Amino acid sequence: MTDLKKTPDQLRSARWFAPDDLRAFGHRSRAMQMGYAPEEWKGRPVIAILNTWSDAQPCHMHFKSRVDDVKRGILMAGGFPMELPALSLSESFLKPTTMLYRNLLAMDAEELLRGHPVDGVVLMGGCDKTTPALLLGATSMNIPAIYLPAGPMLRGNWKGKMLGSGSDAWKYWDERRAGKISDKDWVDVEAGIARSYGTCMTMGTASTMTAIAESIGMTLPGASSIPAADAGHIRMASECGRRIVEMVWEDLTPKKIQTRKAFENAIVVAMAMGCSTNAIIHLIAQARRAGQDIGLDDFEIASRKVPVIANVRPSGDKYLMEDFFYAGGLPGLMSRIENHLHLDVMTVTGKTLGENIAGAEVYNDDVIRTVKDPIYAEGALAVLKGNLAPDGCVIKPSACERRFLKHTGPALVFDDYPSMKKAIEDPDLDVSADHVLILRNAGPQGGPGMPEWGMLPIPAKLVKQGVRDMVRLSDARMSGTSYGACILHVSPESYIGGPLALVQNGDRITLDVAARSINLDVPEAELAKRRAEWKQPETRFERGYGWMFTRHIKQANEGCDFDFLETGFGAPVGEPSIY
Ligand code: FES
Repeated sequence: MTDLKKTPDQLRSARWFAPDDLRAFGHRSRAMQMGYAPEEWKGRPVIAILNTWSDAQPCHMHFKSRVDDVKRGILMAGGFPMELPALSLSESFLKPTTMLYRNLLAMDAEELLRGHPVDGVVLMGGCDKTTPALLLGATSMNIPAIYLPAGPMLRGNWKGKMLGSGSDAWKYWDERRAGKISDKDWVDVEAGIARSYGTCMTMGTASTMTAIAESIGMTLPGASSIPAADAGHIRMASECGRRIVEMVWEDLTPKKIQTRKAFENAIVVAMAMGCSTNAIIHLIAQARRAGQDIGLDDFEIASRKVPVIANVRPSGDKYLMEDFFYAGGLPGLMSRIENHLHLDVMTVTGKTLGENIAGAEVYNDDVIRTVKDPIYAEGALAVLKGNLAPDGCVIKPSACERRFLKHTGPALVFDDYPSMKKAIEDPDLDVSADHVLILRNAGPQGGPGMPEWGMLPIPAKLVKQGVRDMVRLSDARMSGTSYGACILHVSPESYIGGPLALVQNGDRITLDVAARSINLDVPEAELAKRRAEWKQPETRFERGYGWMFTRHIKQANEGCDFDFLETGFGAPVGEPSIY
C-alpha cells in the first residue's frame, strides 16, 4: 500500500485546475475541449510522459506505440496521462553531433515540466544523450520521475555471424578499406547490423547510461537490460505508468533518490559494465544538478577497485546486450558486486537498492563473470593527467591493445577532421604504427559539441600492413561502441588554448596508464614560446543556439553542462505564476 504523503488538493496540478477563478475555468474548459470529463482528471495526479519519439529516431521507433502502454498503466493506477513530445536527439542522424544538443533537451525537459500542470513524469529515452538530458531536466525540476529505457535492439546478424552496433561497423569498415569486403557483402552488413527498434546493443553509451539510470535508482529493477522487442518491455512500460502515480502520492522526488551514495553506486556499476567513456561527462553533470560533488577523482578511485565483469563488447570479446539480459541483466551484475555498493539507498520502487536486487541471480558465468574471473581486473576507465592534460583526460584500457598502456611515440597532428580524413587515406603519409595521432579543435567549444571523433581512423597505409590499433589523442569524445588506444576528453581543450594546441609534429608523447600520466616531452621554455605565438581558431557561431552554447558550455572534466543550468549558479526557479 502506498504511503500517502499528499492529498489531492496538494497536487501541483491543482494550481491549474482547482481554483474558482477565470484562469482555472480556462484550463478546465480546455481539458473538456479535448473530450475529458472532470471525473477523468479531477483530484488525480497528472502524469507527463516526455516522449523522445520522432521519425528521425530509429532507436525510439517503438515509443510511438509504447507510450500507449505507459498511459494504460497511469490510467489503471488512477492518474491522468499527458504526453509531451520532447527533442528526439538521434545519435545517428543529428549533426554535427548530439552532444551539441544534450543541454537543449535538458532545458526542454525542465521547462516542459515546469510550465505544464503535471505532478510526475515518465521519461522515455535511451539513445545516447536522451538519457542524461532527460534526467538532467527532471533532476533540476525535482518532481517525481521514473525513467523508461528504450531497451537494446536485437543482436545483429550477417552470414551467421553476430554483429554488434558500432563496434562491427568500425571493424568491417577497416576490412573494407583493406579491400577484403565486396560491395554486396557491405550492403548485407548494412542490412544486418540493426535488425529491430531499440538502442545500440553493444555496451555503448546508450546501454551504459540506461544502466547508470537504473543503478542510481531512477528505473524499475532490471528495466535497462530488457530488449526493446521483448514483450517484457511492454509490461515494464505499463508498470512505469502505474508506479509513477504512486510516487506522486508518496512525494518520492529525484532529490530523495539521487544522493551521493547513489552516484557512487552508478560509478561502480559503470566500471563493472566496462562502460562508455561518455559516462564520465554525463554523470558529473547529473551529479552536479543533484547538488552532489562528483568529479574525475571519484571515477579514478572506483576504477582502481572494481573489475570489469560484463563480458559485453567492446570491452568483452563476444557477447551483446541481449545475452546480458538472458544472463540475469543488471540486477544479476549488481548481485556480483554487492560489496562495492551502498545497498541502503532509496529507489523509484520506494524500496532500497538492496531490497530490489535481493534474490537476483546470474544464469551464465561467461556473460556476467565473477569478480574472481573478470574480463579486466581493474576498472574500465583510467583518468590520466600531465602537462598535456592538466585537468585530465580519459582512456578505456579494457578496450585497447595492452602494449599501448605504456607507450612513447612521435606526434602526428591534425587541426581539424577534414584535413585528418584526407591525410589518413594518403598512401605516402609519413606515419608508423608507433606514432601518436592527434586531432585537436574537437572539444566542447572547438568541435563544436565535442563530437565522437576520438577513435581516429588508422592510416590506410598501416591498415594494409595489418595494423588495427595505435595511440590516438584528442579533446573529442568517442562512441561507447568504439575501441582502441584512444585518449579522449583532453582538458582544457585545444580550441581555448589548452596544451594540446601547442603540440607539433614529431614531438615525443609518453603515455603511462599504470602511472595515470600523459606528457609532452618538450621543455617548458619551448612550450611558453609556442603559447605566446598561439592564435585562437576562428569563431564557430555568430548567432543562434550555437552562439549561446559556445559562451556557456563547461569543459569535459566539469560535465559539459551550461554554467547557468548548474544548480549552484543561482537561486532555484520557482513555480510559474498563474494569473
Ligand atoms: Fe541510438 Fe546508438 S544510435 S543508441
